[in-house]
Amino acid sequence: MTDTANHQPAPCQDHVLVSDHALVKHKLALLRDVGTSSFQFRALVRELATLLAYEATSDLCLVERDITTPLARTRGRFLAEQIGLVPVLRAGLGMVEAVWELIPDAQVWHIGVYRDEETLEPIYYYNKLPETPTVDICLVLDPMLATGGTAVATIDTLKEWGVGRIRFIGIVAAPEGIRALSEAHPDVDIYLAAIDDHLTPAPSGPDDLPEGYIVPGLGDAGDRQFGTKQD
Ligand code: URA
Repeated sequence: MTDTANHQPAPCQDHVLVSDHALVKHKLALLRDVGTSSFQFRALVRELATLLAYEATSDLCLVERDITTPLARTRGRFLAEQIGLVPVLRAGLGMVEAVWELIPDAQVWHIGVYRDEETLEPIYYYNKLPETPTVDICLVLDPMLATGGTAVATIDTLKEWGVGRIRFIGIVAAPEGIRALSEAHPDVDIYLAAIDDHLTPAPSGPDDLPEGYIVPGLGDAGDRQFGTKQD
């Protein structure tokens, strides 16, 4: 993506990993296309979530145990930690099944939170976490990292809950969102398919786009997945 004169360049940090995989680029181009149906869009979100989760989980802790193949005794390595998946509602829901297929023993936790844009305080509307954490590492799932407000508030909650290790898996991010998330949680690695140019500004007329959309982006990832797109 190119940066336009009015926007700051995307932050280039070693905890931000943008996939260079040809399949990711191909599927992202299809996902962006305004002509892609909701059915195709959901499938592409799942496929991209699988590919990005593959990268985000490459160094998970393993434990070695004896196993018996049909031919011999040998040693095998198994996931050693309990993994939590935390979809950011609602667009992140479409990524859960894909990652769950890869890690069937993962727990899925739902936190309903958004950040009030004026006060910057997190507004919680749903939280079913038990008192103490039941997972060692959380993968926070949200296809769009726009302002970063919701991701930051979700990760604040997970850290207060006591989760020590957290990773963010998105599909498209704005530089503004990466900056906000990195400043608030520099320890959280961010896995993406692309970093786009900028966010739409506050509208100055009735024909302007709403504020806070990623450009070029892919539109409203929730509406496009769930078929609720408004004209
Ligand atoms: N959320 C979306 O679904 N799309 C954007 O462009 C920004 C936030």
